[in-house]
Amino acid sequence: MPSCQLFRRRQQPASQPTFPFPLRSVLQAGALAVLGLASLPSLAQTDPHLARNLAATCANCHGTNGRAVGDMKPIAGMPADKLIAMLDDYRSGNQPATIMHQIVKGYTPEQIKLIAGYFAAQQPKK
Ligand code: HEC
Repeated sequence: MPSCQLFRRRQQPASQPTFPFPLRSVLQAGALAVLGLASLPSLAQTDPHLARNLAATCANCHGTNGRAVGDMKPIAGMPADKLIAMLDDYRSGNQPATIMHQIVKGYTPEQIKLIAGYFAAQQPKK
């Protein structure tokens, strides 16, 4: 009965730790999150838009589909191996940078390959 449950909750001894949220559902959510992470690699193989979506994270600075605006370096149409080599140089510190050395560390080598393939297939700006 709901009113009984309510009453019993109020009777909890003050010394018992209380949580402002239902602990059980938090644990369940955590377990689900772990399961979700475990299934990530298979998701990467089945998501046809993964390369495009990863490449979209570069658009803020390098323009839509890598077609840069203004002084920004364009990356649309850059051969994949060239782009990968440049990003590797940023990652290792061989190529000094203001920001790219940080950005590249946010991607796995597999993700960089997908991104490079995507930009290589884009039409450069005329
Ligand atoms: C916050 C802005 C920003 C984002 C986001 C960004 N870049 Fe850059 N990128 C730069 C800047 C600035 C440079 C020039 C090097 C430096 O100072 O870091 C650069 C340089 C580069 C270069 C070298 C271009 C050349 O011709 O020398 C490549 C390749 C590159 N970025 C690829 C990427 C890729 C791929 C992504 C997405 C994963 C990305 N960038 C995301 C700002 C950004």
